[in-house]
Amino acid sequence: MAIRNIRELGDEVLMKKSKEVKELTPRTKELIADMKETLYEADGVGLAAPQVGVLKRIVVIDVGDGPIVMINPRILDRSGEQTAYEGCLSVPGKHGMVTRPNYVKAVYMNEKMHPQEIEGTELMARAICHELDHLEGRLYVELVEGELQDVVYDEDEE
Ligand code: NI
Repeated sequence: MAIRNIRELGDEVLMKKSKEVKELTPRTKELIADMKETLYEADGVGLAAPQVGVLKRIVVIDVGDGPIVMINPRILDRSGEQTAYEGCLSVPGKHGMVTRPNYVKAVYMNEKMHPQEIEGTELMARAICHELDHLEGRLYVELVEGELQDVVYDEDEE
């Protein structure tokens, strides 16, 4: 396993559409293992393969309950609305207000290429939408209401 370099805003690969995964090759398994390691190293909530320069439809999400690997994910249903600050490992030190559905239902293949279904609300719904956008070459910065802002850390907070 290895930590991969996270591509940042301005890198063309982030604007490209990713391709379906047809089979789990050893190379793809290695990519998934590296994506998990890279996500934890960066202390993020989600990471999509194009963020490490690979145009495959794979995302890893961890909202605090352990990693979920989603291969060829697709949103089936969405409802409600939530507006909150959102950030991205490819846009370090920034965040902005984004409105997303408050509920999302998605299907995907797991790491054994078995079909799975997931329902998520709040942060999970947001993370699924954000990561799936990466697979279409879309970044949250296009959706920000108002200005993209610098993340300011509260010095009193320990
Ligand atoms: Ni992102």
